[in-house]
Amino acid sequence: DGEELDRRIAAARATLGERLVILGHHYQRDEIIKYADYRGDSFKLAQLAAGRKAADYIVFCGVHFMAESADVLSAPHQKVILPNPAAGCSMADMANIAEVEECWDTLTELLGEDAGIIPVTYMNSAANLKAFCGRNGGVVCTSSNAPKVIDWAFKQGKRVLFFPDEHLGRNTGLRYGIREDQMTVWNPKDPMSSENAEEEIERARIILWKGYCTTHMRFNVQQIEKARAEYPDIKILVHPECRREVVDAADLFGSTEYIIQQIEHAPAGTKWGVATEINLVHRLAKEHPEQFIFCLDPIVCPCSTMYRIHPAYLAWVLEALVDGEVINQVSVDEETVHWARVALERMLALAA
Ligand code: 13P
Repeated sequence: DGEELDRRIAAARATLGERLVILGHHYQRDEIIKYADYRGDSFKLAQLAAGRKAADYIVFCGVHFMAESADVLSAPHQKVILPNPAAGCSMADMANIAEVEECWDTLTELLGEDAGIIPVTYMNSAANLKAFCGRNGGVVCTSSNAPKVIDWAFKQGKRVLFFPDEHLGRNTGLRYGIREDQMTVWNPKDPMSSENAEEEIERARIILWKGYCTTHMRFNVQQIEKARAEYPDIKILVHPECRREVVDAADLFGSTEYIIQQIEHAPAGTKWGVATEINLVHRLAKEHPEQFIFCLDPIVCPCSTMYRIHPAYLAWVLEALVDGEVINQVSVDEETVHWARVALERMLALAA
């Protein structure tokens, strides 16, 4: 039961001491986040993974691509552990290296050698896609630094290939001043299928990969209209993985850390309709009883893969470490580490 797991986790942590650091993403459930030495959005957790050189073990309570990035950025002696190896990300799975290379080859063939395309991958992607960006003059971004990264990319080249999240790419491009008709969507399952595909690509300043987050796709404009009708003074706060219409209809949008900051700095009595993962929204509501905070989706929408990190897995991997056994380690090969680090460090240098 919960108390027994608490006892086991606390005992293992005490034994491991400074050799262990536990990182927790804001979407983790309460029973996990309470054990995190540090909490963060994906950018902050990448910074933390790059900066905690003293620990031998980084136990990452988040999803696979985050643990991979931690392995890329950590020191060689450090081992990164994902308590449940089944904690993946369906959006990250919407782009693989073969598809990205096919897209890249088609674009360069079509646009010629001086096409000036800069590949930008969202953090939510496999390490080999980050390495692709590193090798090809590109960069990684997260939802907290996407505007800065897009600005950097357009200073390096004329066009951006943005993968795998279509929506973050579009929302960021629009704020940067790129018009909708200067963007085109690349569907890896059926590329170049539209009649005007070539023209659209030639005109495009941003080529958006057709990928999405199933949790953030649940939010729509009707939910926002309903909330505004019910509470005229409500503030709508959404994550940029939501569709364009949702972001346009909101008052504010940003990463999980941004969402938390807005609420932490708001006066008592503020009302919020939030569009992001439910564990985070519930926690914010609990931590801020002086405000009125609810999730815009009436049907509870957890990120099913974040939810796969259960205290029983945490207890299991920590007790194994106490016994000198490393289980569920996430380890990226050396060649991939080299180039993925190039792309990640370009992002870190731009800062949040
Ligand atoms: P951030 O924590 O960077 O906002 O990202 C949220 C997310 O979708 C992680 O998968």
